[in-house]
Amino acid sequence: MRVFQTDVLCMGAGLAGERVAVEAAQAGFEVICLSLVPPKRSHSSAAMGGMQAALGNSIMGDGDNPDVHFIDTVKGSDWGCDQEVARLFADTAPVAMREMAFLGVPWSRVVPGEHTYYKGGKPFQATEKAENEGLIHSRAFGGTAKWRTCYTSDGTGHAVLFTLDNRLLQLGVTMHDRTQAEALIHDGVTCMGCIARDLRTGELVAYMARVTLIATGGYGRIYRATTNAVICDGGGQITALDTGVVPLGNMEAVQFHPTGTVPTDILVTEGCRGDGGTLLDVNEYRFMPDYEPEKAELASRDVVSRRMTEHMRKGFGVKSPYGEHLWLDIRHLGEKHITTNLREVYDISTHFLGVNPIHQLIPVRPTHHYSMGGVRIDKDGAAYGLKGLFAAGEAACWDMHGFNRLGGNSLAETVVSGRIIGQKVVEFLRGYDVNFSTAATRQAAQGVQARIDALLKGTGDDCYTLRNAMQDIMMEYVGIFRNEADLKTGMAKLQELLKRSQNMRLAGGWTAGPLPELSMAMRIPGMIRLSLCTAYGALMRTESRGAHAREDYPERNDRDWLVRTLAYWKEGDALPALKYEPATPWYELPPGDRGYGSGKIIAGEIPAEKIRPLGRKA
Ligand code: FUM
Repeated sequence: MRVFQTDVLCMGAGLAGERVAVEAAQAGFEVICLSLVPPKRSHSSAAMGGMQAALGNSIMGDGDNPDVHFIDTVKGSDWGCDQEVARLFADTAPVAMREMAFLGVPWSRVVPGEHTYYKGGKPFQATEKAENEGLIHSRAFGGTAKWRTCYTSDGTGHAVLFTLDNRLLQLGVTMHDRTQAEALIHDGVTCMGCIARDLRTGELVAYMARVTLIATGGYGRIYRATTNAVICDGGGQITALDTGVVPLGNMEAVQFHPTGTVPTDILVTEGCRGDGGTLLDVNEYRFMPDYEPEKAELASRDVVSRRMTEHMRKGFGVKSPYGEHLWLDIRHLGEKHITTNLREVYDISTHFLGVNPIHQLIPVRPTHHYSMGGVRIDKDGAAYGLKGLFAAGEAACWDMHGFNRLGGNSLAETVVSGRIIGQKVVEFLRGYDVNFSTAATRQAAQGVQARIDALLKGTGDDCYTLRNAMQDIMMEYVGIFRNEADLKTGMAKLQELLKRSQNMRLAGGWTAGPLPELSMAMRIPGMIRLSLCTAYGALMRTESRGAHAREDYPERNDRDWLVRTLAYWKEGDALPALKYEPATPWYELPPGDRGYGSGKIIAGEIPAEKIRPLGRKA
C-alpha cells in the first residue's frame, strides 16, 4: 500500500477545505487535499446567489453592520444555533469577503443608477442617495433585514472556487483528485489520517497526517429530489460516525430550498426572488403575500418551502407528468438583468427545462438543498471525540445555522469558517506531534479491504436498488412535514435496508480494477446510517423548530428543546445513540419571535447569567 505523510490532510477540496488549506499552506505547513472530482468541479461551484457579509455598500444595505447580520442569523436558525459561533461569523464575514476580492474574486460591483431594486414587487431606482461606485454590491436574500448578499452574477460559488483553487496552485498544495476517503485512521483518542481509495486504479492508499480535516460537503444524496451533486454523499460524515467516538450534530435539521426546478431538481437561485422574482400558483396568482404579508417570497427558506407545500396541498399546484409544482416568475426583471445578474438561471432554464425565463415561467417546487447537521465541532473547528480531527463547511455542525440556514450564509461560512478554523489548525500544529501507529493504520486498511471483499462476494441487492429505496423513504417519511407515524415507518424501512446492505452485490460483474460501481456500493451502508440518524433525531425531537416541522408537535418548545442532538454510532448497533447538549453557551439574543412564519412558542426560562449584552465585541 502506498503511504503519504503530511501536516494537514484535507478530505474534500471545495471552498471550506481549500480555505483551510490556504491558511495552513501560507503558514508553511505541508497540505494534501483529497477530492472525489477535479477540485474546480466540487459542489461549491454550483452555489449561485452569493455570500452574506454586512458591508452595507448598496443603498438597500444602508445601516447594515455585523450586529444586524448576527440577529438575522439567530432568527433564521429559529434560536437553534450556537450564538458564540454566529457572532464570530458575522464579525468576520466582511473581512473575509474583502480578502476574497484581494485574491481575485470578480465581485459584482456598485454602478450608481444602474441597479433596479424591487420592493413589494414594485421597481425603483436608487436615486435618493448616491451609492458608492465600485464597491462590492449586494442583493436581497430571504430572512434578512438588509440586502447583504455579495455576489458575482449568479455564479458566485464558481468564481470564488476558481480563485481559491488558483491560490492553492500558487502555494504548491498537493491535490489528489479522484480519491475517495473511506476510513479514518485512529486509536480511539487521536486521529492520524485516513485510508482512501484511488478511483483511477482501485488501490488503497494510506494518508498519515498530524491534522485531518473533514470538508467533504453535505449528504443531500440521501434524498431523491435534491439540488446536491452526486458527490454529496456524506462520505466525510460517514467516516466520522464510523469511529464510534465522533458524534454528528443536529442531523434532523434538513433544509429544502423553495426553487428547485421541475423535473431536473437543479437549483435556481434565491437571488431570483431577491432581485424581485415572485412565486405564482396554477392560476398565476401571487400567493406568498397572503401567507407572509411582511416578507412574502423573502421569508426564510423553511417558511417559504412550507407555505408552498401548504398551497399545493390546498389544490393550487400545477399538475405535470413530474408531479405538482408552482411557478417562479422573473419575466418582469427584463432581458438585460436576466442575462447579466441571473445568467446561470437563464442557461439552466433554457438548456435543462426548455423554458426561456425572459418570456416564460419557471416550474419550481421545494427541493432538498442543505444539511445543517454534520460532524460536531467546537468553535475552533475541532471535532468532538478525536484529537487532531477537524471539520469545516457543510460537512460540519459548527453550529451557526441551527435549524434553518439563511440563504447566502453557507457560502459565506465556507470562507469565514475556513479562515478561522485554518488559523486554529495552524495554532494547533505548532508544537504538536503525533506518533503514527502502524497497528491503527493496518486495522483501518484491513477494515476497508474487508468491506470490499464482502461486496465482491455479495449475493443480495445491488447498490442502485438500495440507494433508490433509501432516497424514496427519506422523501416520503422524513421530508418537509414530519410526524411520529411517518418517522417510525421510515425508520423501520431504513433498518430493513441497512440489513440488506450487508449482503450487497456488484451488478456490473467486474471483480478487479477501478470498479466505479464499488465507489457507490461502499457508501450505501453509511448513507443509510446517516438517514437513520436524521430520522431518529427527528422522531425524538418532539417540537417544531426551523426546518424541522412536526405536524404532531407544531409549537417551538424552548422549555425543553433548546438543545443540540448528538448522534453516535457503535459498530453493530441498529440505531444511533442520541445525546443532547445546550444549543448555545450564552444568549446575546434571547429566544423570541422571528417576525415571519409565526407559530406558537412554549417559552423557557433563560438564567440571567446566560444573557449577554447585544453588540459587537471586537
Ligand atoms: O439560492 C441560492 O443561490 C443558494 C444559496 C445558498 O444556498 O446559500
